[in-house]
Amino acid sequence: MKKNFSRREFLQTSGGVAGALAAANTIRLEAEAIPPARPGPASDRIRFGIIGVGMQGSGLLTTSITLPGVECVAACDLYDGRHTLAKEIVNAPLSTTRRYQELLDNKEIDCLIAAVPDHWHRQIVVDAVNSGKDIYCEKPMSHSVADGFDMTAAQQKTGKFVQVGSQRVSSAIYGKAKELLAQGAIGDLCLVEGSLGRNDPTGAWEYPPPPDLSTQTLDWDMWQGTAPKRAFDPLLFARWRCWKEYGTGVAGDLLVHMISGIMFALNLNEPPQRAMAMGGILRWKDGRNMPDVHASLFEYGNVPIYARLNLGTESPEVVRFQGAKGYIEVSEGAVTHVPQPGVDTSPSYYATQSFPRAMRQEYLKQWHAEHDPPPGQELLEAATTYRGVSYDELKPHLWRFFEAVRTRKPVVEDAVFGNHAALACHMANESYFRKSAVTFDKASKSIKNS
Ligand SMILES: NC(=O)c1ccc[n+]([C@@H]2O[C@H](COP(=O)([O-])OP(=O)(O)OC[C@H]3O[C@@H](n4cnc5c(N)ncnc54)[C@H](O)[C@@H]3O)[C@@H](O)[C@H]2O)c1
Repeated sequence: MKKNFSRREFLQTSGGVAGALAAANTIRLEAEAIPPARPGPASDRIRFGIIGVGMQGSGLLTTSITLPGVECVAACDLYDGRHTLAKEIVNAPLSTTRRYQELLDNKEIDCLIAAVPDHWHRQIVVDAVNSGKDIYCEKPMSHSVADGFDMTAAQQKTGKFVQVGSQRVSSAIYGKAKELLAQGAIGDLCLVEGSLGRNDPTGAWEYPPPPDLSTQTLDWDMWQGTAPKRAFDPLLFARWRCWKEYGTGVAGDLLVHMISGIMFALNLNEPPQRAMAMGGILRWKDGRNMPDVHASLFEYGNVPIYARLNLGTESPEVVRFQGAKGYIEVSEGAVTHVPQPGVDTSPSYYATQSFPRAMRQEYLKQWHAEHDPPPGQELLEAATTYRGVSYDELKPHLWRFFEAVRTRKPVVEDAVFGNHAALACHMANESYFRKSAVTFDKASKSIKNS
């Protein structure tokens, strides 16, 4: 027979906290109320143009045109197949072009959505706000540290809205996590941990290029932007996330969602002071130059935030805020609050396993006399789960952007916030490539070795 119990086994068999947690409540979270479509004067309508109608842009377009008082008047993409796709989605007359400048010059357009690869974000956002248009730009906001500061400066100079597309900050799920944290539900914060794993080619960005892609159907030269010029390669077009010349790796693709959600929930709006990251190209040796396994540890104030991303093994995405009074766990469809009393709820196994019999019996007698609750006053520490649609639902985030355009009330995730979230990702990437801890130097706006 096994003599020694681990701490976890002890709690499970002793009917302590773990037993009490069997009781759990589930509460449904209501999504942000979006009014139904309403007929109104044409002048009330928000008309937008979209730049980039690929995997994400198609979803943004499909969702935006379901919002009341919002219509798409033009779509731009460098690949003609996406003009066809945009027309199929809108299912109404729509002007399409390869040149986004035409959308900036179009006086009918109130605002823009940009869902282009990361290496194009800076140029399009800066040009958009300089032309007097608000813009919703996909995450990660920037492709480099310098890009992010150019974008925040352009937002500030023009007073136009930039909303970054990390939609979790508008989700009811993260909203609930933020509320619980503000109410002190878990006491003093000790640690935040997040992890996510995938294990399939699509999850690792090995997307199939469109079969008709050629230098006739795509402006390949323009697509490359300021990246070093390469011969036409459909794989670069479809799988750009794999290469640092265009994308920002798992950090900019996935970690940025986690970090934006964590920053939002904790009311943080700053880059981490320090980051340490490790990883490698351990699973998908397909010529990529960005890691497919990336574990990063960040320092925000005195709280460590630890994020583990792995494209080699599938595991659910979770973020856990841990504090002295329990933890809050955020998953795609729910946020669960697990309270912990933070006191011994059973006699200490140190005493029960290491005191001689007489001493042990005396200890147990005294412990129970001091701690056993009178009948009817037992600790009831039930976990509560709040279920929402998904923290990745685009609708509320897009709705808030269009409402900001309409009302001129500030957007929920501006370029300053987007820059800070992206800086965490750039620091994780720099730390990985430099094989060194890095810090963010606010004075020179640059990443330094720690
Ligand atoms: N918020 C999210 O959950 C989420 C999800 C997926 C992607 N994204 C982000 O959306 C952006 C786009 O990703 P994607 O997967 O849709 O990429 P994609 O390659 O599928 O689509 C990008 C499209 O942009 C077009 N394009 C590139 N440069 C252009 C330019 N200068 N002018 C006009 N069109 C141009 C391309 O031709 C392509 O059709 C990325 O920044 C990505 O990180 C966000």
